[in-house]
Amino acid sequence: MNGARPALNVIMLGPPGAGKGTQAERLARTRGLPKISTGDILREAVQAGTEMGLAAKATMEAGNLISDDVMIGIVRDRLNREDARVGFVLDGFPRTVAQAAALDEMVNGRGPLIVLAMVVPEDILVRRLATRRICSKCGATAAVDWNVCGKCGGALIARVDDSIDIVRERLKIYLRQTDPLVNFYSTRGTFRAIDGNQRPDIVTAQVDAAITAATSAAGAAQ
Ligand code: AP5
Repeated sequence: MNGARPALNVIMLGPPGAGKGTQAERLARTRGLPKISTGDILREAVQAGTEMGLAAKATMEAGNLISDDVMIGIVRDRLNREDARVGFVLDGFPRTVAQAAALDEMVNGRGPLIVLAMVVPEDILVRRLATRRICSKCGATAAVDWNVCGKCGGALIARVDDSIDIVRERLKIYLRQTDPLVNFYSTRGTFRAIDGNQRPDIVTAQVDAAITAATSAAGAAQ
């Protein structure tokens, strides 16, 4: 809890390309929450050439997962920062049952955990990732009408792990390691599935409605 406002703790679950990052950014902005994207944290470390970045680079480029120990440590440190006391939007974590169990421990006593699972058919995911462009300088995902980055003017490039073979590998890994989290969470009153195969603004409206419903379900259960 933070003063009068209860903490809002949200996880965006879903396969590569489901729109987790897009919706997490909007939600963080409208609700005044930190967006914690483990993919962004890792890519920044790779870009900066830190020890962690150097160790993670090849694994990420192959579409594989970084070890649970490393990821749990990163998220634990991040959630301990002051700005996360009002809550957070987690994008890309948890991705395994071990990460989900560790997260339950981390948020224990910090208010309910709202889990939004974005559902999008596989052919649409593949198409979205094939056309995604990001900024080579700041890493922002490009809007459709950008020729250069709208945030910093940097050149737009494809993400290395968005090549078709790596996307197929990421989807396989998602099904094997992350999709079981739907079962892990689905019996909780704070779980909601969202149809992510709609215009981004419609998805945003459904995310908002799902948060309102999940928040009152959590309140009623207390
Ligand atoms: P990460 O960066 O988390 O990649 P991901 O989960 O594969 O997700 P994406 O970023 O590809 O997709 P997204 O769902 O965010 O979609 P987006 O909004 O961008 O992780 C990368 C790597 O880091 C992993 O492979 C792993 O190696 C490592 N890693 C990260 N976290 C880890 C963890 N916890 N444990 C272990 N390893 C970890 O949208 C995609 C595209 O679609 C964009 O172009 C967007 O504009 C467009 N779009 C979005 N919404 C819509 C819509 N409604 N309609 C049409 N287009 C849309």
